[in-house]
Amino acid sequence: MTNFEFCNPVKIVFGKRTIQRLPFLIPEGSKVLMVYGGGSIKKNGVYQQVKEALQGWNVTEFAGTEANPRYETCIQAVEIIRAKNIDFLLAVGGGSVIDAVKFMAAAVYFTGTDPWDIFTKAASIKKAMPFGAVLTLAATGSEMNERFVISRESTQEKLSSASSKVFPQFAIMDPEVTYSVPANQVANGVVDSFIHVIEQYLTYPVNAKVQDAFAESLLKVIYEEGIKVLDNPYDYDIRANLMWAASNALNSWIGQGVPQDWSSHRLGYALTVQYGLDHAQTLAVILPGVMTYMQKEKQAKILRLGEVVFNIIEGTPEERMQKTIEQTEGFFRQMGLKTRLSEYNIPESAIDLLVEPVKRMGWKLGEHVNIDWQVAREIFLLRK
Ligand code: NZQ
Ligand code: ZN
Repeated sequence: MTNFEFCNPVKIVFGKRTIQRLPFLIPEGSKVLMVYGGGSIKKNGVYQQVKEALQGWNVTEFAGTEANPRYETCIQAVEIIRAKNIDFLLAVGGGSVIDAVKFMAAAVYFTGTDPWDIFTKAASIKKAMPFGAVLTLAATGSEMNERFVISRESTQEKLSSASSKVFPQFAIMDPEVTYSVPANQVANGVVDSFIHVIEQYLTYPVNAKVQDAFAESLLKVIYEEGIKVLDNPYDYDIRANLMWAASNALNSWIGQGVPQDWSSHRLGYALTVQYGLDHAQTLAVILPGVMTYMQKEKQAKILRLGEVVFNIIEGTPEERMQKTIEQTEGFFRQMGLKTRLSEYNIPESAIDLLVEPVKRMGWKLGEHVNIDWQVAREIFLLRK
């Protein structure tokens, strides 16, 4: 295990009817910009709960953050923040809304020419506006981390960044508000959070027992509750366990001092930008390819994954690895996600363009920094 230094400063307020805690979490006298998405919060009562909690507060609304939030939209919000002297942001939504707010919080104080440089030139974030989150979808962990992913329409890019300046001040997590999430988005959340753990766990052992045991318990919970949730959408305990597991899957804890992969995530961005796949849909296609291509490097962890999560204990190591990869893909299919490019009508001839960002950005991905665009091409070919 390597040395590490980290701090997760996000205050969590978890449980039923917790949105009413908002006035005790936002600094008194704040001028708030409430940011939300395409309107789901108006149908499921979340909007009303927030407005009731903040009755009498100075709240401006900014609606219309897209799933896979767009830079162009965030910049409009930044103009409003400046024009109205907003001093606190409130994200009400899933990962997309929270990520958008993180970018707005950083962009509003950005002193360079274009805040897009945060992604393309690793421009540092020196200051960000404080913000909180009311989470409505269990998936990304954005409510409890410092990462954000933004797409830029004009350049057809989707890029991620991270900064300790953009941790939310608080996250309100009421599992009941996830009852209304459409089944396909619930499944996306299960698969995304499972793969967040995988990206930090399925590398090679460094004798990090706490991180490994924690990661394995998260994988088990996400798998076991994930296969139940679609048939039991109003089961509070299932929703609560999935919500808390998703936050813990990407809130820094399991990743400390251990090698990390993240290649499935990076390779997936092009599938979203070029073909409009949801984030988790991209991962369900790519991860089995990464596992297959990298099975020698990942052998010890694949065997352990098979044993702990899928109870695969018989056969030669090669047979057990094969079964584990199949079961992992089978889990995604059980959740209703497709796992092949052809199922999305993406032909083999599209692969060169899909790996173009890896080539252009010079990315070398994976825990061994050995997935360049040529290896990425081989991985995509395995997923035809
Ligand atoms: O826009 P609204 O109306 O809110 O509808 C959303 C959206 O259509 C809907 N929804 C959310 N909560 C709901 C609901 N519908 C009914 N009831 C509710 N309670 O669900 C749809 C998807 O929402 P979105 O926020 O896009 O989903 P998710 O949370 O999966 O976020 C995906 C985004 O997060 C990024 C992804 O790349 C993608 O852009 N990621 C962020 C990460 C991070 N910050 O750490 C890590 C992840 O790996 C990921 O890359
Ligand atoms: Zn993800």
